[in-house]
Amino acid sequence: MKIVKARAHTNIALIKYWGKKNTDIIIPMNNSFSLTLDHFYTDTKVTYDEDLKKDSFSLNGEEIESQNVFNFLDYVRQLSGKNGFVKVESINHVPTTAGLASSASAYAALAAASSRAFGLDLSRKDLSRLARRGSGSATRSIYGGFTEWIGGDNDLNSYAKPFQENVEWDIRMIAAVINSKPKKITSRSGMQTVVNTSPFYGEWVKNANNSIPLIKKAILDKDFTTFGEISEENAMKMHALNLTAHPHFSYFEPQSIEIMQAVEQLRQDGIEAYYTMDAGPNVKIICEGKNSEVIQKALKIKFPEIELLESKPGKGIQFLD
Ligand code: DP6
Repeated sequence: MKIVKARAHTNIALIKYWGKKNTDIIIPMNNSFSLTLDHFYTDTKVTYDEDLKKDSFSLNGEEIESQNVFNFLDYVRQLSGKNGFVKVESINHVPTTAGLASSASAYAALAAASSRAFGLDLSRKDLSRLARRGSGSATRSIYGGFTEWIGGDNDLNSYAKPFQENVEWDIRMIAAVINSKPKKITSRSGMQTVVNTSPFYGEWVKNANNSIPLIKKAILDKDFTTFGEISEENAMKMHALNLTAHPHFSYFEPQSIEIMQAVEQLRQDGIEAYYTMDAGPNVKIICEGKNSEVIQKALKIKFPEIELLESKPGKGIQFLD
């Protein structure tokens, strides 16, 4: 019997991954760039036991028959050359399916814990490639801080690379959780609808790839204005693309728009803050530490019912005792 525990933090894409060129092994259309967060993470314990008759998976104490997880475990078993089964127990410290990318930390933690439980000793690059097969955004959660996913075009050359693991810049991300109900259109289906039907898709790919060197430069220069503008614009391009798909769709809820407008108002009042959004209605606000409190206070006054969750840059994959 072998027990392995791993912790992975989620990440927020500043330059989004939105579309696959290979849906089986998850090869993205464009490169993406993210910040790993300290506040949201998944702890996963994998027990390899020769006596088990099949794999099992529980999330927050509840047994789940997830075909995606079972297919992932089949792949790890095949890589390891072993025949035994595993018991997977995950605790998610991320509100699930609310656009806070819980699949990123989930598959990064599962890749790390399951590969080791099956007796594999993978490098971080290979863990990133493995996590990718579970969920694209998980590719980047192997590393802390600012990370790039080099899209590549095959299983070997599609993996994440750390850009700055120890972030010395006091960057914060405040998630405004306006609706923690499961999202209506998963990122998986939404992004492929866009790939297949948006007449603007090619432009998105070019623009996203071109934005990565620019955001890296802004980070090196500690130029928060450029950093924030590039992030916000990339997110809005992704969401604009969704409106050009067939059928068109949007993740915006009325309150998402109100929060974005409140952030713009803060900017007009001289407090620098930018927003990004993913495959759900929550708005994530990017700011410097010195402005975090005043931003949160202003939002609390306008939207007393919303929950605000602040994160700092987080660590990469960790094995726990
Ligand atoms: C908007 O990684 O959840 O958060 O690869 O199909 O599992 P799959 O999709 P997923 O998509 C994330 C989309 C995004 C942008 C991003 O994280 O880059």
